Amino acid sequence: MDETTKHLNGNARDAALEQIATRLAIRAERGRRFAELTSLRVGGAIDWVVSPETETQAAALVYELDQARIGWRALGSGSNILADDGEHHYVVLSLKELKGELEFNGEFVSVPAGYSLPRLCIDVARNGLSGIEGLGGIPGTVGGALWMNAGAYGHEIGTVTETVRVARGGKVVEIPGTDVQWNYRHTSFREGELLLGATLRLIPDDPEKIRARMEDAKSRRMATQPHGSRSAGCFFKNPPEGNLGTGRIIDELGMKGSRRGSARVSPVHANFIVTEGEGARAEDALALAEEVRERVKREHGIELEYEVELWRANEPRSSTGNDDAAGELKRKE
Ligand code: EPU
Repeated sequence: MDETTKHLNGNARDAALEQIATRLAIRAERGRRFAELTSLRVGGAIDWVVSPETETQAAALVYELDQARIGWRALGSGSNILADDGEHHYVVLSLKELKGELEFNGEFVSVPAGYSLPRLCIDVARNGLSGIEGLGGIPGTVGGALWMNAGAYGHEIGTVTETVRVARGGKVVEIPGTDVQWNYRHTSFREGELLLGATLRLIPDDPEKIRARMEDAKSRRMATQPHGSRSAGCFFKNPPEGNLGTGRIIDELGMKGSRRGSARVSPVHANFIVTEGEGARAEDALALAEEVRERVKREHGIELEYEVELWRANEPRSSTGNDDAAGELKRKE
């Protein structure tokens, strides 16, 4: 394919995207970078960022993008993502505007995907509902937490999820939480599926007791994890076997504080990689992560699995498996 064809195809894709966004009255922006949209503050240019404000709008949007064969990926607060420094030629569907309101009904609470997880934890505690207070300090959206089955201090979001709302055929469809496999920091949701919200079933308890447990989790987190630095939380999963956690293993290898350009193994918790300085590079964080993996493999024979999601600019996938000339593929498997 020559450069002219590439360019024309890109223009046709852009025109189609603009039409869809206008028709659905959804904000579509150009010129954003992952460095502005992720907590690691690294990552390259994004073709388009679209920001639906309601679940209905978001469901219609992905349907139209799929019909037009325009590739997309959903982004919450970007607090568990390492996007590389390349040019990302797909549409980023930002869910941060999909905040809506909580709806309480007895022990149930319905929450949109873009709602802040720490905010949700505070709101349900105030309403005397327990079951997620351990998650209070995770700086993500509810959608992101559902996607990866976020967990901390004895709580996991999947455990309390009664139903999940997903986009199917242009509509909002509610599926039972029991249809989803909630594994350790992983679920059966697949790329190409958009999570719009959930209804959680919590346990009534004294708001003061819930708040005390939330404060306890917060102080444990403050004592053991870096705060105020640019990270994506734990970088690797803990190994499935053995008693040693990844943080402890990396720490005992003396790698706390190890550096690669703008990336560093946190001196506070060795399973956190932090970035520093203006113009920090994803490349540095990735090189450092690979160095850590190699050391752990060499010295312990353990293959660390990434806990953060790696978003590669040059990894287009389609539902058909065919390569698309402009690389504008549906990011579906
Ligand atoms: N440790 C060290 N050195 C370190 C870090 C930890 O020796 O640099 C030791 C600690 O002293 C402790 C043990 O390792 O004895 C476990 O550490 P910690 O309590 O910090 O728990 P973790 O297993 O490292 C997990 C989750 C965290 C979650 C906490 C609390 C994973 C990969 N990490 O950390 O989740 O907040 O438990 O529940 O499962 C995340 O998902 O991003 C995340 C940070």
